[in-house]
Amino acid sequence: MTSSVAPSGRLAIFPGSFDPVTNGHVDIILRGARLFERIIVAVLVHGEKTPLFTSDERVAIIREVFHEYPNIEVDVFDGLLVEYARRRRASAIVRGLRAVSDFEYEFQMALMNRHLEPTIETVFMMPAEQYTYLSSRLIKEVFQLGGEVSGLVPPAVERWMRVKADGG
Ligand code: PNS
Repeated sequence: MTSSVAPSGRLAIFPGSFDPVTNGHVDIILRGARLFERIIVAVLVHGEKTPLFTSDERVAIIREVFHEYPNIEVDVFDGLLVEYARRRRASAIVRGLRAVSDFEYEFQMALMNRHLEPTIETVFMMPAEQYTYLSSRLIKEVFQLGGEVSGLVPPAVERWMRVKADGG
């Protein structure tokens, strides 16, 4: 049997809205960075209608979090994810699975993406158990209602959230 490895065979994309990035995302990104040669955290530009952070702010925050990791790149994308992955010559899409409730949506997306681009594989990873209940939506809600989010998001996110709350 012959095997061939594409030049960028170990580049993965971790796509998402990241509004904001949580410690659950951070956990998955670090796992991905250990598994793949390089991982691109790809921020969707036109996702939610009224995001808390602009895509530029989300990119700046994630870059700040991972500035010490040379194999973690942060970028933006718009349009079809598989088009972006193809353009970047990635071989895999990484997604996190927190609970069974994530499964159906993720399964549909993975199979649709495979239909659109059969050469790109979706790889699922589970975050550490203490992050399985985290979501960007809940973080925003808790923060906006005055709850404590430290330990659930990187310190940089907390700082940027405080700036937003102060009207920044
Ligand atoms: O963090 P999220 O919001 O769960 O990420 C969802 C995301 C960005 C991965 C998904 O909405 C996406 O890939 N959007 C790009 C448009 C696209 O390719 N749609 C078809 C996917 S099957």
